[in-house]
Amino acid sequence: MAVRVGVLGATGAVGQRLIQLLEPHPEFEIAALTASESSAGKTYEQAAKWRVNSPIPDDIAEMTVTATEPDAVPDDVDLLFSSLPSSVGAEVEPPFCEDGYVVSSNSSNSRMADDVPLIIPEVNADHLDLLEVQRDERGWDGALVKNPNCSTITFVPTLAALAEFGLETVHVATLQAVSGAGYDGVTSMEIIDNAIPYIGSEEDKLETESRKLLGEFDGASLSQDGVEVAASCNRIPTIDGHLENVWVETEEELTVEDAKTAMTEYPSIGLRSSPDQFIHVFDDPDRPQPRMDRTIGDGMAIAAGGLRDSTFGLQYNCLAHNTIRGAAGASVLNGELLLENGYL
Ligand SMILES: NC(=O)c1ccc[n+]([C@@H]2O[C@H](COP(=O)([O-])OP(=O)(O)OC[C@H]3O[C@@H](n4cnc5c(N)ncnc54)[C@H](OP(=O)(O)O)[C@@H]3O)[C@@H](O)[C@H]2O)c1
Repeated sequence: MAVRVGVLGATGAVGQRLIQLLEPHPEFEIAALTASESSAGKTYEQAAKWRVNSPIPDDIAEMTVTATEPDAVPDDVDLLFSSLPSSVGAEVEPPFCEDGYVVSSNSSNSRMADDVPLIIPEVNADHLDLLEVQRDERGWDGALVKNPNCSTITFVPTLAALAEFGLETVHVATLQAVSGAGYDGVTSMEIIDNAIPYIGSEEDKLETESRKLLGEFDGASLSQDGVEVAASCNRIPTIDGHLENVWVETEEELTVEDAKTAMTEYPSIGLRSSPDQFIHVFDDPDRPQPRMDRTIGDGMAIAAGGLRDSTFGLQYNCLAHNTIRGAAGASVLNGELLLENGYL
């Protein structure tokens, strides 16, 4: 029987992607949709300005959107996918967990908390058992699991693939799509014919989340990886797909061929939404490109290319679909991991 799920922040950019991925999902059944007070009480079709590239599923269009509070969500819903602004997530996610709901969240609040697993299933699925610590400490029947920031998800899998060579320093510069800012995030007058070399708090997220993701969980606590990461983030006028330029210095010698092999052979994980080939490495130096390559592996794969030796170690470019692999698909994958590990 399918697990009954809800979407918190269902009308936004990530919420719409969540509906697109969850509606046909055989393990999950959408049973609740929430948003702000201004959407509550409306049908989903009335509340959401639908912008993804497939029609609103008929049964979803007719559902009533509720306020984002535990009393408004049926008790038989077990799993909530959260795509709320982080200030709202910080306020409402803990009461949902206290009430027994398991929350798989995109929002940045609590990502770096010691007892909150921050997960990319192909990279650190073992960190999920931090939930035992979380439940002990917080006394929750429910649980809170986070996926990382969309630009963190784009480059950390490539670092995980290279970790065997001993990661020392990483520099990363991002070229991020406008959908990453949400539907009301960047106006056309700001971004057309332009690039914005500032995304609030984004550099810090790449620098800190990457160390947590690559860290080790010993069954009681999590220690962060010692790699030094420096990031610079830019918004550019693409719709979807974050492209990133990465420089990696390692303790052991790392040739371009070694790196290609390590990335290509880095394993996927047998969850329903994980791609067969997790990291797709291009030989063509001008790939990956957002418009051409963001849907590889149904938007769930990481693309890499342009590998070469540089003054600062190995240099390459990588790309991921920010609202699928970087957000909605990441939460759904974490939901599948929770289900596989008996947390639902
Ligand atoms: N876009 C991405 O690529 C991406 C990637 C990774 C993580 N994220 C994170 O995911 C979250 C959602 O991002 P988004 O791009 O989908 O944002 P968005 O398009 O602005 O959508 C925000 C959603 O939250 C709801 N909401 C706003 N204020 C609320 C309140 N006070 N109470 C309850 N619901 C409220 C909105 O409902 P109304 O329609 O009723 O206002 C809408 O459903 C953010 O934390 C973002 O940082 C986004």
